[in-house]
Amino acid sequence: MKSLSFITENFTESVIREMTRICDAVNGYNLAQGFPDFGSPPAIKKAAVGAIEKDKNQYPVTFGEPELREAISKKVKWYNGIDCNPETEITVTCGATEAMIATLMAVINPREEIIVFEPFYENYGPDGILAGATPRYIPLSVKDWSIPKKLLRQAFNKNTKAIIINTPNNPTGKVFSLEELSEIAKLCVKWDVYAITDEIYEHILYDGERHHSLATFPGMKERTTTINSISKTYAVTGWRVGWAIASKSITQRIRKVHDFLTVGAPNPFQHAAATALGFNHDYYQKLQHRYQSARNLLLDILKETGFDPYLPKGAYYIMAEVTELMKKLQVANDVNFSRRLIELTGVATVPGSSFFSQPEKGKSLVRFCFCKKEETLMEVEQRLKKLTPIC
Ligand SMILES: Cc1ncc(COP(=O)(O)O)c(C=O)c1O
Repeated sequence: MKSLSFITENFTESVIREMTRICDAVNGYNLAQGFPDFGSPPAIKKAAVGAIEKDKNQYPVTFGEPELREAISKKVKWYNGIDCNPETEITVTCGATEAMIATLMAVINPREEIIVFEPFYENYGPDGILAGATPRYIPLSVKDWSIPKKLLRQAFNKNTKAIIINTPNNPTGKVFSLEELSEIAKLCVKWDVYAITDEIYEHILYDGERHHSLATFPGMKERTTTINSISKTYAVTGWRVGWAIASKSITQRIRKVHDFLTVGAPNPFQHAAATALGFNHDYYQKLQHRYQSARNLLLDILKETGFDPYLPKGAYYIMAEVTELMKKLQVANDVNFSRRLIELTGVATVPGSSFFSQPEKGKSLVRFCFCKKEETLMEVEQRLKKLTPIC
C-alpha cells in the first residue's frame, strides 16, 4: 500500500491525553490534563438545558450564533479593552483549539516562519506542522520564564509571518508583562508580522498580576487574532466553544477554514456561553480565590514530597524539577519518571519534554495541574507521601 501522509507522520499523539488514558486505566488522580473535577456554574448548566428545550438543536450560524457574538463583543470591551464588530470580526469555533489551527491555516503559507516561546502548549507544535509553518523557538529564561530580549530581537526576520503568544501561559504559569508585550508589539509592527494570542487563562491570575491583550497595543489591532474560549474560565472543557477575534480581512479567511473544518460549534452550548459571558465581576473574583488557594496548597504538597516547583503567576499548572527524585527512583528521564509516578502513587502528571521542541530540554521537568477540588489535592498529598519511604 502507498505510504500515508508524511505531514501526519511528523508529530505524535498528544502526551497529555495519553497520560489521561493511563490514569483512567488505574483509576488514578489526574493532575495531567487541565480539566476541573468540580461542577460547572449552575446558571450555565440551566442555560444549556434551556437552549436544548427551546430546540436550539440544529446547525448554528456557521461563524457563531448572533447572541454569543454580541456577548463576546461586550465582554472583550470591558475586560480586555478590545473594540470589535460582532458581525465581521468574530468567529465562534470548537474551542480555542480549532480557533488556533483555523487562524494558522488562514494566515500562513508553507515554509513561512512562526515564532513560538518555549516551553509551549503542546498543540502549537502539530498546529504549526499542519499549517506548513517553520517554527522558530525562543527559549524562556529558566527560573522566572522571562523573555531573553536579544533572542527575541534576533528571532524576527523577513520570513517571519506570525508569532504565537499564550498569556497567562501553559505550562509555565508566566504572565507576559506590559513591557514584554510592548516590545513584541514594536517588533511585529517593524517586521510586519501577525500575532496570534491564546488568552484562555486570562482570568486565572495570582498575586495581583494583571492580564494585557496584545491587540490593544499601538499598531496591533489589525494584525492580531485574539483567541479565547469558555473551557477554562467557566469550567466547561467538554462544551467545545471558543472564538477568534480579528480584523475583517483575517476573519473572512478564518471563517472559510472554520466552515469546512467543523461547520460550527455546538448550538445549545453557544447560547449557554452567552449566559456565561454575562457573569459579573464577583464570579471572576471567586474564580481567582479558588485557584489561588489550590495553587498554594499544591505548591506546599510538592515541596513537602521532594519536588522542586516553579511559582506560577497565572493559569492552573505548576512545573516542577524532578532531578533529585529521578535519581532516587533510578529513572533516566521525565517520561519514565511520570510512568513510575503513576505506578507508585496513582498520580498522573505530564512529562516536561512534551512542551519542548527537543525532548532533552524538558527531561527533568513534569507539569501538574491544580484545577481540582481541595479534597482531591489532599488525597494527592497522601499518595505522593508514598514516595518518601522509597526515596
Ligand atoms: C493554552 C491552551 N490553549 C488552548 C487549550 C484548549 O482550549 P479549548 O478547550 O478551548 O479547545 C488549552 C487546554 O489545555 C490550553 O492550555
